[in-house]
Amino acid sequence: MAREPITRGEEREEDRLLGSLRPRRLAEFIGQERVKQQLKLYIEAARSRGEPLDHILLHGPPGLGKTSLAQIVAAELGVGIKLTSGPVIERPGDLAALITNLNEGDVLFIDEIHRLRRNVEELLYPAMEDFKLDIVIGEGPNAQTLRIDVPRFTLIGATTRTGLLTSPLRDRFEVIFHLDFYSDEELTEIVRRGAQILGVEITPEGAYEIARRARGTPRVAHRLLKRVRDYAQVRGDGQIDRTLAREALEMLGVDEAGLDELDRLILRTIVEKFGGGPVGLETLAAALSEEKDTISEVYEPFLLKKGFIRRTPQGRVATPRAYEHLGLKPPASAPAHAPAKPLELLAEDAA
Ligand SMILES: Nc1ncnc2c1ncn2[C@@H]1O[C@H](COP(=O)(O)OP(=O)(O)O)[C@@H](O)[C@H]1O
Ligand SMILES: [Mg+2]
Repeated sequence: MAREPITRGEEREEDRLLGSLRPRRLAEFIGQERVKQQLKLYIEAARSRGEPLDHILLHGPPGLGKTSLAQIVAAELGVGIKLTSGPVIERPGDLAALITNLNEGDVLFIDEIHRLRRNVEELLYPAMEDFKLDIVIGEGPNAQTLRIDVPRFTLIGATTRTGLLTSPLRDRFEVIFHLDFYSDEELTEIVRRGAQILGVEITPEGAYEIARRARGTPRVAHRLLKRVRDYAQVRGDGQIDRTLAREALEMLGVDEAGLDELDRLILRTIVEKFGGGPVGLETLAAALSEEKDTISEVYEPFLLKKGFIRRTPQGRVATPRAYEHLGLKPPASAPAHAPAKPLELLAEDAA
């Protein structure tokens, strides 16, 4: 199998394995030029004023560098960082403990911030706005609220879907960045940097071959690089050139468009089991025995971006490009080639 579906736990495990490849400073972070430029400015301004950086929300598909950027911001500011995630914070007290233990100016990174529990999220509002926490002491009629000061900190939130954020929370972020898929050229650079760190010899064509099949995603580029490197060690002389990269990727089931087996299975299921769609997300997930979130957050954004599927209010539809990619003839009634719409314009929850 080309790639196990990325569940959240596996993603963390993989990040640990790929840890050495994670960029540590802004200068090592390739691409996302606009985001980098602005961050640099805000970091410099905050440093020169001796104030904490404004709260930042990062959103975009998995593997594009949200966690890396949060760590980079802390490193560039020369402050500490605490990493946590929405579903991990069970009670308001857990969040209060995290925040009161920060040092002045530190970064608190909350991944999957759209999955914060409501009562935890509400505690965050005054903390973000005024650096105050409302602590409830006692229970029932004798309960009292105590407002305490906390260190001034920078919250960096990450989410795959801003549409799932409540507006009171979204409104409290002064800076919102959207990370988009990387270009083939940027990914080529990421692959070459990765190869250098891993000590693998790679030709420019070899790097490009891996990059262009990496679904616009640095995490995928790193993963493919590692697997191609294994192939090069066993089947070749250790060097990665275009021919070897092609062979290895073919063996991994990653095709010319960068689609892997699950991508193709999604397309084939829509086409063969549901007559090309529209099919609702729930139904599709059930037919594939996959998690709904894995499909909508990991697989779909890239299939949408490349114009293989479309989201309609009735559900997912396979485009003529999907039929062609599977070597099938599109039905006469298939919707005409639609340009891939920017994700922002799509109703996020159309199922
Ligand atoms: N711009 C980049 N340049 C180089 N490597 C990157 C870049 N963005 C992400 N990566 C790599 O991709 C992997 C996933 O990045 P991560 O920050 O964990 O993504 P996210 O938090 O958005 O899911 C990491 O191993 C990191 O090294
Ligand atoms: Mg992350």
